[in-house]
Amino acid sequence: MILEKVTYEKIILDIQRQNYVEVPLTISSLSLDRAAQHFLDFLTLPQEVKNSFRVIADEHDRGSDSGYARKLKVHGDSDNKEYFNYRGLSEQLLKKQLEQNRSNPNVQNFFQSARGLFSETSNTLEEFIKVVDRHYQGIHNKIFSKNPGRLLCLRFVKYDSAGKGGFLATGHYDRGACAFALAESAPGLRVGKDQDTLTKIMRQGNMGIFMPAYTFNRDTDSQEFPPAWHDVVQESNDTYSKDVARWAIILFADVHSDHTISYQDTHTPF
Ligand SMILES: [Fe+2]
Repeated sequence: MILEKVTYEKIILDIQRQNYVEVPLTISSLSLDRAAQHFLDFLTLPQEVKNSFRVIADEHDRGSDSGYARKLKVHGDSDNKEYFNYRGLSEQLLKKQLEQNRSNPNVQNFFQSARGLFSETSNTLEEFIKVVDRHYQGIHNKIFSKNPGRLLCLRFVKYDSAGKGGFLATGHYDRGACAFALAESAPGLRVGKDQDTLTKIMRQGNMGIFMPAYTFNRDTDSQEFPPAWHDVVQESNDTYSKDVARWAIILFADVHSDHTISYQDTHTPF
């Protein structure tokens, strides 16, 4: 039982102390690194092919957005990055694109990695949420029974270089219920209660980082899980590669997929 050390008491203590909880992963760091490499290989595809892997099934439902996206500061976004949202329903929504690229290894390898990672890390997050659910009944059902094909999202992110000490991601709370940071190419993630209490995450062993996001208190009907304020700083000029400052893989869980929480809400500390 991999989570035997992650008791409810430990979860609450860790949240009070640092606003995140370390959770042992069952997936190997080798598999995580391989998945990241497959994602970076996917990003080498021509821009129009990448753009074709973007589906928003329902404008009013954030849980229906799947696939590739490019964010640029010059377009008013907060960071320069590319990412891919892999959800349970993504392969169904992207069926046509997968068919058109069935002999392209950069597409097929990436989806195969994403599928395995999604399944295994969702299970680990589910075990963790079950521990919380013993004290706050209903949270497991909300995330894992209602519509997990939409409410769970495995995100692969690549940040462009921002120069040493530059922010790859400025301070924010994550939207949704919680975030489970699985792996990244280099340290730089800082987590706390607000800007003054940010501490740098140093991973020990193969651990995921559980962070309550904007609605976890509301979703559990408690006051025990304030959202984790966090940012990402590029620590040196030694980037992952010429074009990649950093990569990260995160599993997000949501309970609502409407648009009631704004960018302003999640980027302003309480
Ligand atoms: Fe975040």
